[in-house]
Amino acid sequence: MSFSLIAAVGKNGELGLHGELIFHIKEDMQFFRDTTRGHKVVMGRKTWESLPGKLPHRENIVISRHDVEGADKTIHDLEQFIADNKDTDEEIFIIGGGQIYEAFAPYAKTIYLTEIEASADADTYFPDFDKSRYDKTIIKKGESHDLIYAFAKYSLK
Ligand SMILES: NC(=O)c1ccc[n+]([C@@H]2O[C@H](COP(=O)([O-])OP(=O)(O)OC[C@H]3O[C@@H](n4cnc5c(N)ncnc54)[C@H](OP(=O)(O)O)[C@@H]3O)[C@@H](O)[C@H]2O)c1
Repeated sequence: MSFSLIAAVGKNGELGLHGELIFHIKEDMQFFRDTTRGHKVVMGRKTWESLPGKLPHRENIVISRHDVEGADKTIHDLEQFIADNKDTDEEIFIIGGGQIYEAFAPYAKTIYLTEIEASADADTYFPDFDKSRYDKTIIKKGESHDLIYAFAKYSLK
């Protein structure tokens, strides 16, 4: 399996509200850029629309049932994409949002979660996944504007 999920979550798995991110941590944005640079990034159409534009230095793949302007590639058939790519050696990053994490979670080899020690109003949550199947390591802990966070890496056992 080749899919790596990467997300920033609050204490209850909060991901987003009204189509936007909830937590804004500069160091997390930098971690995201460094980790995904040079790789394919796969996102849902709503996450795509929340971005100011294409993420540079990576292939932007958008999942939608419709045509999407500006993406490097649009995938209409999610199940087929999973079937075609789940056994490749290439690391493909799944960058959200909630619907797309949910679809890929059963196939995740690695899950990078920025775990933020705060809760907030949300309408989108990271899916429950079976943590007993993964080894957890903490890459780094930090604090930014009173938000305490840790970069956690879950690796499939
Ligand atoms: N905290 C984080 O790390 C993080 C990361 C990313 C996003 N987010 C947040 O998450 C929220 C967006 O998440 P979301 O769950 O609402 O939307 P999403 O997962 O970004 O996109 C959903 C869209 O993906 C397409 N899609 C989903 N399943 C499909 C399937 N089986 N086949 C074809 N297309 C499919 C549909 O597009 P069409 O309607 O065009 O067909 C659907 O409307 C935002 O608030 C965003 O800021 C947070």
